[in-house]
Amino acid sequence: MTRIPHETSGEPNPLHALTLDRLRLRTSMKWRTHPEDVLPLWVAEMDVSLAEPVVRAVTEAMELGDTGYPAGTGYAEALAAFAEKRWAWDGLAVRRTALVPDVMLGVVEMLKLVTGHGDPVVVNPPVYPPFYDFVRHMDRRVAEAPLGGDGRLDLAVLEDTFRRVTAGRGRAAYLLCSPHNPTGTVHTADELTAVAALAERHGVRVVADEIHAPLVVGATPFVPYLSVPGAERGLSLMSASKAWNLAGLKAALAVAGPGAADDLARMPEEVGHGPSHVGILAHTAALRDGTAWLDALLAGLDANRRLLAGLLADRLPAVRHRPGDATYLAWLDCRALGLGDDPARAFLDHGRVALTSGLPFGTGGRGHARLNLAASPEVLTEAVRRMATAVERAGAARD
Ligand SMILES: Cc1ncc(COP(=O)(O)O)c(C=O)c1O
Repeated sequence: MTRIPHETSGEPNPLHALTLDRLRLRTSMKWRTHPEDVLPLWVAEMDVSLAEPVVRAVTEAMELGDTGYPAGTGYAEALAAFAEKRWAWDGLAVRRTALVPDVMLGVVEMLKLVTGHGDPVVVNPPVYPPFYDFVRHMDRRVAEAPLGGDGRLDLAVLEDTFRRVTAGRGRAAYLLCSPHNPTGTVHTADELTAVAALAERHGVRVVADEIHAPLVVGATPFVPYLSVPGAERGLSLMSASKAWNLAGLKAALAVAGPGAADDLARMPEEVGHGPSHVGILAHTAALRDGTAWLDALLAGLDANRRLLAGLLADRLPAVRHRPGDATYLAWLDCRALGLGDDPARAFLDHGRVALTSGLPFGTGGRGHARLNLAASPEVLTEAVRRMATAVERAGAARD
């Protein structure tokens, strides 16, 4: 499977479009959770101007009053075409898709289809904290199979966990994060094929959260879980939301492998009432017409990854950081900084810069923080300056 190289479309870097003053006018979570003197690099919202095709689709809908209920399969068709072009995957069948309100609510619905109350759901910590919260909220049990020290899936640990959670009991699921949040790890075709074999051997159903799939900036190509041999009984959640910054325009897709089509068909019709018609129009436009914008974003994110590595080496050499091949998130091992279990707290208190605490990411999160690098180079540079100041001040406060 080959990745289409980033086109040189002449599209401007969307991370350069908005000044900090303009961004501070935003009313979303990233900008309104902390006071004005805090620089926010936490929740997964990007500091981008939107792709023009998305703006056009939403504006036309507003002008026409096209704000009713959703109809048709345009979103799934756009995703299937994108998957074919971008990931050389022609196996996404529109008839095996269903609209869901967003990825996490889609995860909940898929887990309901393949598990019952009290059943285990395996996750790979450190991992996106709502994997714990949503699974527990639906009365399932979280079972941890931590990533290896290299930030990759540890197949031996995964197999042990599958064996343990299925011993003498009924159903179990595996909630795979692909690419992985927070490490940015892109799972290879070999790893995913091994996952599928293990899952089949132990009767574990795989639900893959592939929301970050279009956001691959490194050399490893994204491989859709459902494209690997043995994954026929898998379910996947996909959305344009992360890659085009559309979290406020709710719409996502559940996709079933051929062996999971009957399961997906059991999803209650009411779930499809959740996504917004305007959201679906926006997501469809992004996938269909927003690839030049995406390529400009990916080039900007790649430059930011390199900038961050240089800034950390220069200002905070004790921070250990392995740049991931995907997502716009950087997972920082701050244990050598002397800031305790929750360095994000110290960065906020002493440096007025907001990162995400590593603690709710589960095993492996202690002493870590997650930085959102989907910002301008100026903001990123200022953020690392503030982090370094925080380390100095925290040290002075201890002395
Ligand atoms: C891995 C992962 N899944 C799901 C979500 C949230 O997606 P949604 O808003 O569509 O539920 C995020 C958001 O950052 C994420 O990183």
